[in-house]
Amino acid sequence: MTAAEREFEEYTGGEPLGRIVYSASEIAARVAGMGAEIAAAYPPDADILLLGLLKGSFVFLGDLVRQIRRPLQVDFLVASSYGTGTKSSGSVELLYDPRAPMAGRHIIIVEDIVDSGTTLNQLCGGIADRDPASVEICALLHKRIAPDLEWEPRWVGFDAPNEFLVGYGLDHGEDFRHLPFIACPRT
Ligand code: PRP
Repeated sequence: MTAAEREFEEYTGGEPLGRIVYSASEIAARVAGMGAEIAAAYPPDADILLLGLLKGSFVFLGDLVRQIRRPLQVDFLVASSYGTGTKSSGSVELLYDPRAPMAGRHIIIVEDIVDSGTTLNQLCGGIADRDPASVEICALLHKRIAPDLEWEPRWVGFDAPNEFLVGYGLDHGEDFRHLPFIACPRT
């Protein structure tokens, strides 16, 4: 058994590993780069509000904000489209709507993965309607398979393979979110 397989089994309680797609160190390096790009993209006095799309973005958001060396604020959107399955149900339920005011502010929606694009297509318009100065999307992973993506992320960590991915916030039936890397379980 390899060290990666052993580590995966520790975190999952025995689930076999398909493969590690992005290691913790690869993710950390890319997130640091994204944080620097975001910090450099706005004027010094810009009023920035990051909206982390929960639950999937919670690990990415926590790492990302610590790499953006400038003033900003953080709030959350809680949405769910997958339930316990592996395919999007096609409709997105907004479970928590941020209380933070958005008018005149630079909004950055932080997403863990863009898959079918349903989540962004259904949520971004509602944010744009609140009269912000700008709306951008920062996604760690982008499968580039969304047929009609109306809101293209400005910042993307990795172009991801079209496989079921878990870890670093991504789940399967609520399991695996706590893995420090991104992996394919063996199916
Ligand atoms: C997942 C993931 C993204 C979204 C991407 O969230 O975290 O937010 O699906 O898929 P899409 O591009 O096909 O819409 P999910 O709805 O499973 O909720 P979660 O974040 O709580 O896991």
